[in-house]
Amino acid sequence: MRRLIAGMKISVDEKVEGVQGYADWVEAWSEDYGLMPQVDACLLGAVMYPGYERYWTALQNEPDEPLPITGRLPTPAEVEWARFAARTPHYVLSSTLTSALWPQTSFVRGLDEIAALKRQSGKDIYLVGGARTTASLIDAGLVDELRLIVYPLIAGGGKALFAATEHRRGLELRKVQQFPGGRVFLIYGTA
Ligand SMILES: NC(=O)c1ccc[n+]([C@@H]2O[C@H](COP(=O)([O-])OP(=O)(O)OC[C@H]3O[C@@H](n4cnc5c(N)ncnc54)[C@H](OP(=O)(O)O)[C@@H]3O)[C@@H](O)[C@H]2O)c1
Repeated sequence: MRRLIAGMKISVDEKVEGVQGYADWVEAWSEDYGLMPQVDACLLGAVMYPGYERYWTALQNEPDEPLPITGRLPTPAEVEWARFAARTPHYVLSSTLTSALWPQTSFVRGLDEIAALKRQSGKDIYLVGGARTTASLIDAGLVDELRLIVYPLIAGGGKALFAATEHRRGLELRKVQQFPGGRVFLIYGTA
């Protein structure tokens, strides 16, 4: 069985984005969770997918230009992720979206299709976000591991990761690591 592993960059008050609609405290959207060697597919929610596609398409097409959202030049780790994303199947959980620009993107219409994806042979699957998708898939018992990078700030307003979660769930702490800039990397087993 492939594992489904979520990775999110959050503030101390569990915001995944601020009031302006993005996490301005995140300086680069590289895959900083150590997942690249062990995954061969990505899963995303319908709200975040269009912006994700725009961001990585911009990097692929104009690697020397500042990126949307961060307004910065791509970091080497972002360039690495852009290359990985371009050759990796992406699945978007949506009942409404029907088309994507990327040929490697397809759609899943419900949680049973995600369970079926996990039963296929292959490496693990990276759950890229967004908040609602990540929280609801954890709630449904489909996520095996949650990897968080906690930034040292209280964001105040914005979108919280577990805003709609009602059920209690114990977590198993598997790793704690301090990252540069006061960030903390946490790995939790969710089963
Ligand atoms: N800080 C970070 O690391 C990070 C990472 C990724 C994203 N983000 C942020 O997250 C934001 C998007 O998060 P979001 O919570 O608004 O939306 P989302 O999780 O990207 O997408 C939610 C959508 O997924 C579809 N969906 C279908 N079945 C679902 C189910 N069982 N549970 C949940 N969703 C289901 C629905 O779309 P349909 O209506 O089409 O069915 C729903 O509206 C982005 O704007 C981005 O800023 C942050």
